[in-house]
Amino acid sequence: MEKILVIGALGQIGSELTMAFNEKYGNENVIVADIAEDKNNIYAGNVFEKIDVTDSASIEAAIKRHRIDTIINLAAILSATGEKNPDLAWKINIDGLLNVIRLGIKYKLDRVMVPSSIAVFGPQSVLYNTPQETVLVPNTMYGVTKVVGELLGDYYFKKSGLDFRGIRYPGVISNKTMPGGGTTDYAVEIFYAAVKHKKYTCFLSPESCLPMIYMPDCIRATLMLLEADRSKLRHCGNYNVGAMSFTPEILADEIRKHIPEFTIDYRPDFRREIARYWPASVDDSSARAEWGWKPEWDIEHTVADMLRAIREKNL
Ligand code: NAD
Ligand code: SER
Repeated sequence: MEKILVIGALGQIGSELTMAFNEKYGNENVIVADIAEDKNNIYAGNVFEKIDVTDSASIEAAIKRHRIDTIINLAAILSATGEKNPDLAWKINIDGLLNVIRLGIKYKLDRVMVPSSIAVFGPQSVLYNTPQETVLVPNTMYGVTKVVGELLGDYYFKKSGLDFRGIRYPGVISNKTMPGGGTTDYAVEIFYAAVKHKKYTCFLSPESCLPMIYMPDCIRATLMLLEADRSKLRHCGNYNVGAMSFTPEILADEIRKHIPEFTIDYRPDFRREIARYWPASVDDSSARAEWGWKPEWDIEHTVADMLRAIREKNL
């Protein structure tokens, strides 16, 4: 693992994960790519490539030009946007993924990492302490693409020896880049609303309980899996990873410990139906046993740190 290409590097996770790669492996070894322009010049210290993940030739050119041996593909359409445009979700999440997989095999890359999601689960899954291996019949196009992505990763690992890795991220909470059209976005929006307006209208219902992870833990988990010894891994792209679980009501109570006048009301929309069939919590014993996963951030510390970081922005 000497030269990493991060596709989708301008998104919520990419914009922070790439900085962690820079710190760990050196900017000169991290090539960043996105379909969008780096308007804020956050990657002034990296080579930036404008790449559409659905355009195999542009990925191939970057692999050759920079002698890439590892690809992290973060380009995706998330759950809420995917329900509005399922064809686009399939195109980017599956056609794009297949481009990365095929090139990974062709150029014998060391490894390919592509995130999965708690969206792989659905109405027939056990939704509390959800096991890693269970019924996977999601009811969103995003979830369908994530199940297919996991299966493709597993298939090409067995068939072609491609070292494919991925975590089923819970909802990711962060304060650098806003989330890109998911069902768990409320758990970021709420902090900005609390600091700016002291009130928030939530698009889920008060009892929608979902697993969440704070960005520092998300990055740590990703680096741990990326660097794990393949011989110790029994899975490819489907690791459950847990950190904390809460409902909007519990999160609002925690925010009120810092902002007593904060109020929340509820106007649930189609995203409530998506959240309804996602797990409340996940069993991440495989990640713990195979690559030593253990979360460090709970709701109490996450809320305190999010409010501190957003207040410092002076919005
Ligand atoms: P995001 O929407 O914030 O970022 C996606 C990035 O991909 C954007 O910068 C976008 O410009 C880029 N992109 C979109 N189409 C592209 C294309 N055709 N070619 C190249 N780049 C393109 O997403 P994110 O939250 O950073 O998610 C990254 C990965 O993690 C995705 O696979 C997502 O499914 C997964 N995930 C995220 C969460 C979460 O809560 N953020 C939870 C579970 C899984
Ligand atoms: N945060 C993501 C979403 O809500 C979960 O994969 O779509």
